[in-house]
Amino acid sequence: MSKAKASNNSQMDAIVALCKRRGFIFQSSEIYGGYNGFFDFGPLGVELKKNIKDAWWKDMVQRRDDIEGLDSSIIMSPKIWVASGHVGGFSDPMVDCKVSKMRYRADQLFYAPVQVDGETIGYVSVLEDGAMQADAEAAAEKMKRKGGHQGELGPIALKDYTEADPSEYELIPSPATGEAGSLTPPREFNLMFETKVGALSDSSATAYLRPETAQGIFANYKNVVDTGRVKIPFGIAQIGKAFRNEITPKNFIFRSREFEQMEIEYFISPDADWKTIHREWIDACKQWLVSVGIAEELVGEDVHPEDKLSHYSKGTTDLTFHFPFGEQELWGIACRGNFDLTQHAEHSGKPMEIFDEATKSKYVPHVIEPSLGVDRVLLAILTAAFCEDEVGGEKRSLMKFHPRIAPYKVAVLPLLKNKPELVERARGIYEKLQRKFNCFWDASGAIGRRYRRMDEIGTPWCVTIDFDTIEKDGTVTLRDRDTTEQKRVSEEELFAFLDEQLF
Ligand code: GAP
Repeated sequence: MSKAKASNNSQMDAIVALCKRRGFIFQSSEIYGGYNGFFDFGPLGVELKKNIKDAWWKDMVQRRDDIEGLDSSIIMSPKIWVASGHVGGFSDPMVDCKVSKMRYRADQLFYAPVQVDGETIGYVSVLEDGAMQADAEAAAEKMKRKGGHQGELGPIALKDYTEADPSEYELIPSPATGEAGSLTPPREFNLMFETKVGALSDSSATAYLRPETAQGIFANYKNVVDTGRVKIPFGIAQIGKAFRNEITPKNFIFRSREFEQMEIEYFISPDADWKTIHREWIDACKQWLVSVGIAEELVGEDVHPEDKLSHYSKGTTDLTFHFPFGEQELWGIACRGNFDLTQHAEHSGKPMEIFDEATKSKYVPHVIEPSLGVDRVLLAILTAAFCEDEVGGEKRSLMKFHPRIAPYKVAVLPLLKNKPELVERARGIYEKLQRKFNCFWDASGAIGRRYRRMDEIGTPWCVTIDFDTIEKDGTVTLRDRDTTEQKRVSEEELFAFLDEQLF
C-alpha cells in the first residue's frame, strides 16, 4: 500500500472513530450489526447538520430576493418519476461476482491487461480509488514476478468494466477473490426504492421514495408561479431527504442510501446568457463553502465533457473536494435546459409557460440546478476541520469548525465545581448565553482536560469563571480553540464579541 494511501486511510479512520466516540455519527441499527448505507446522527451530529442546513437556507433563500423555499412530500405520484425519466433510466451499471456474491458498480471497477514485451500475461482489476493506478501497477509487477516473465512490463491503461469487450469478462479477476471467471456482464440496476401506497399490493400501488428533491420543485413550479410574485429569473429551493438504492454505498457518509439534498432550481429565460449565470452560480456555491469553513484551495472544478452530458443538459460543472479517499464530486451545478418542465407539461397536460413581463413573451423557462448533498458537505466539513497538533507537549485532536456551524458555540466552565459562588456565577452567565447560542456546560475535571474535550468537538470558545471573576473585576477568561490564547474580558465584551463573530 502506498504511503499516501495509508496516511489518507488513517485520516479517514480517525474521523470515523472521532464521529463515533464523540457522538457525531453512528452506524444505523448498530445493535443489530449495522445496516449498510444508512447512518444515524448523534447529539453533536444533529447540531452540526442543522447548522449546515440553516446556513444554506439563510444564504440561499432568506438573504436573496430571487429564491423561494419549498418542502414537498417524499412520496409523490409515480407519474412524476415516469415523466422525469427516472423509472426508465435512473440506473447504474452493476456487476456481480458469482463466487464471493459481492456486487460492484461496473463503472467503478477498473481493469487492464498486463503485457510483457507486448504479450498479454493476464489481467488486473482494482476498485475506484485515489491510489488505484499505483495499486494496479503493483499488482501487474507481482503478476510478472510470480509468473517468472522476463522482459519489459507495458503501461497499465485502466478502463472501467463498462468499456470491456464481452470476450474480456471471463479474463478480468474479481476484486473480491483475485481470480478471473466469476464476474457477470454489466447490467442496469434502477436505484429507486419502491414502496406500496394504500391497501392494495399489486403493481398499481407501486410508488417510489424520491431519489432527488428536484422533481418536487418542478412538480410545484406552477403553484409557486401562480401564488407568489416571482419574476424571471427566480429560484425555488428545497432541503430534504432523498433515497437511492446505491449498489456500493461507500466511504462512510459520502455515498449512502438515505441522505439529504439541498437543491435549487433557478429558472431563467431561454434567451438568457446561461453560461454567465452558470458561472455566477459556480462562484456563489464556492463562496458558500468558504463561508462554512472549507478552504478554497480544497475545492476544485470538474467540467463534464460535452460527449458525457445527458441529452437535455447544456453543461454541468461539479465542485469537487479533496476527501481523504481522493478528489470527488461535492456539488453538482447543472444547466438542465427546459427538459423537466417540458416533460411534466407533456405528461400532466398542464401548461408550464411563464409570462415574462420584461419581454412580454411566454415561454417554458430553462433551469440551472445547484444540487448539494447535506451529508456529503458535512463529511467535507469534518475533513477540512479535523487536525492534530501539540499543546504544552501533549498531542491534541481538534475540529476547527467555522463558528457558524460548530455544534456548540461556547462552553462555560466554572474553575472549581465545589465552590458554590463560582458555580452560581458561571451558571448565570451560561443561562444568559444559552438564550442566544447553543452552549455547553462543563463543571468537572481539570480545566486543561475540559479545554481538550471542547477542542475535540470543535467548540470555538471556552469561558472560564474563576476567583478573579467573583472577587475582583468580574472579568472572565475567554479562550480561543485554534490559538489556545486566553484573554480576560468583561461580560459585556464577551457578549459583544460573540455577537460579532456569530452572524
Ligand atoms: N437533482 C440532481 C441530482 O440529484 P446528483 O448529481 O445525482 O444530481 C446531487 O446529486 C448531489 O447529491 C451530489 O453532488 C451529492 O452531493 C449528493 N448525493 C448524490 N447521491 C448521493 C448519495 N448516494 N449519498 C450522499 N450524497 C449524495
